[in-house]
Amino acid sequence: METTPRASINIMTALLLLSLHCFIGPAAMAEQPSSSTDQASLLALKQHITDDPEDLLSTNWTETTSVCNWVGITCGTTHTSRVTSLNLAFMGLSGTLPPHLGNLSFLAYFDISNNTFHGSLPVELSRLRRLQYFSVSGNSFEGEIPPWLASLPRLEYLFLNSNGFSGAIPESICNVSTLQKLDLSENQLARSIPSLIFNMPMLKAINLSSNQLSGAMPSSFCSESPLLEIDLKYNNLSGDLPRNICGNLPNLQGLLLTGNQFSGEIPSSLSECRQLQFLSLSVNNFSGAIPRELGNLTTLNRLYLGYNNLIGEDLVAYICDFGIAKLLGEENSMTRTKTLATIGYMAPEYGSGGYVSTRGDVYSYGILLMEIFTGKRPTDEMFSGEESLKRWVKSSLPDAVGDVLDAKLLSREEPTAAKLECVSTILELATHCCTELPEKRMGMNDVLAKLKKIRTVLGQR
Ligand SMILES: *[C@@H]1O[C@H](CO)[C@@H](O)[C@H](O)[C@H]1NC(C)=O
Ligand SMILES: *[C@@H]1O[C@H](CO)[C@@H](O)[C@H](O)[C@H]1NC(C)=O
Ligand SMILES: *[C@@H]1O[C@H](CO)[C@@H](O)[C@H](O)[C@H]1NC(C)=O
Ligand SMILES: *[C@@H]1O[C@H](CO)[C@@H](O)[C@H](O)[C@H]1NC(C)=O
Ligand SMILES: *[C@@H]1O[C@H](CO)[C@@H](O)[C@H](O)[C@H]1NC(C)=O
Ligand SMILES: *[C@@H]1O[C@H](CO)[C@@H](O)[C@H](O)[C@H]1NC(C)=O
Ligand SMILES: *[C@@H]1O[C@H](CO)[C@@H](O)[C@H](O)[C@H]1NC(C)=O
Ligand SMILES: *[C@@H]1O[C@H](CO)[C@@H](O)[C@H](O)[C@H]1NC(C)=O
Repeated sequence: METTPRASINIMTALLLLSLHCFIGPAAMAEQPSSSTDQASLLALKQHITDDPEDLLSTNWTETTSVCNWVGITCGTTHTSRVTSLNLAFMGLSGTLPPHLGNLSFLAYFDISNNTFHGSLPVELSRLRRLQYFSVSGNSFEGEIPPWLASLPRLEYLFLNSNGFSGAIPESICNVSTLQKLDLSENQLARSIPSLIFNMPMLKAINLSSNQLSGAMPSSFCSESPLLEIDLKYNNLSGDLPRNICGNLPNLQGLLLTGNQFSGEIPSSLSECRQLQFLSLSVNNFSGAIPRELGNLTTLNRLYLGYNNLIGEDLVAYICDFGIAKLLGEENSMTRTKTLATIGYMAPEYGSGGYVSTRGDVYSYGILLMEIFTGKRPTDEMFSGEESLKRWVKSSLPDAVGDVLDAKLLSREEPTAAKLECVSTILELATHCCTELPEKRMGMNDVLAKLKKIRTVLGQR
């Protein structure tokens, strides 16, 4: 399932090269064949590289061999020997980009991600009229995002993430009608998000996370937008969520807004995003109750709501009811663990995804249950390891469960007896999951049967 970055980049190159046949035709033949221009441009780039730790370019990019045989370079396969792809990703290179790169007029794919290039993007790159894929992510570029990027007529993928770009996101970016993926995350972009950014007709994924963007979330969407994923995490966005999100984004699968200052109630209309799988609203200033309608979303498997001003009592009810209901519906135990770990209240550090999915067994399932209800992790300073979290929880059962229950899960009022009993029963189950000897531990099917029983009993109240 996992592909290395390099492998996926190569797949991308292959796909783009295939599609290049679509537009390098007879018209292209009419242009001056000038592979020597390509060579001059690339040699200029080589001259601007100040560090090449693996000697990749210094030994390989030599004037005596055709540029088409240079490492990282691919030429058109038919008609011409012009450079169509430049892929220097993950080579540890340092340096700047020379204006001469604007002469690579057949270039469709440009990827120098994860090196330490710095400076700015030369305006001459705006002459690369065939560019479809442009990635400089994971470098040290600075300054404002150049508005001319919006004039590249075929641009589909634009990755400027993890650099030092600052200033506002240019309004003109909204005009790139061919753009499918936009990643500007992990920069120092500020001010408000251009109001028409979600209106790009081909846009499927947008990532503006980890910047200093402020103001409201844009509420203008084109109808039947293909948008699948919106990531605005860790900014300073505020105000209510737009009510019309789902009406206009029928395909939305991921909405990630953790770590902002959004307020108001969570709109119950979010349940109209019938494809929604990942909803992350934690660490904001949302208030009111959790909309019950979210329980209607059968596709939802990751939901983060922690660290808001949501009505506390509801969170326990939510985990005891909706959470268990969702668990019972899941087929595969890995997804199930992930779901369990992310229902209702969950600390934001779980948001990265990797942590939970690697703990798919019954034991960690039990620990996770304890973490959810106590708000404490085994690594918490009050414990010396998982043993003490387990002992602490166990000693509270069955009658003192209120003492270990995370205060953030409670409202000012005392929790009802029924809710404490629900928590107590679940934590009891959790301690069984955490039996030290694997052969004495319950199987996942037994855990599920138990959960089902808890639910039936609670349902009779
Ligand atoms: C440059 O690298 C390419 C790809 O690794 C290789 O095929 C080619 O032989 C190398 N050329 C020289 C002169 O080292
Ligand atoms: C980027 O490359 C460096 C080595 O050049 C490597 O240590 C680092 O893990 C890479 N970053 C990512 C995100 O792959
Ligand atoms: C390529 O571009 C540079 C700078 O943009 C220019 O000065 C130069 O004349 C061009 N070279 C060729 C060979 O076309
Ligand atoms: C976007 O394109 C339209 C029509 O081509 C043009 O009128 C408008 O000025 C452009 N907007 C920006 C911000 O570039
Ligand atoms: C958005 O970018 C951040 C940082 O580059 C990354 O960690 C995150 O996974 C991205 N979001 C999505 C939905 O891919
Ligand atoms: C975030 O926005 C609020 C207003 O909504 C403002 O008072 C605050 O200074 C901003 N914080 C940062 C770090 O920009
Ligand atoms: C958070 O919301 C409450 C109302 O629920 C409001 O009084 C408070 O000012 C908000 N805080 C911020 C930082 O927006
Ligand atoms: C969604 O859930 C609510 C309350 O949980 C229920 O009343 C409503 O009928 C559901 N709507 C749909 C469309 O399933």
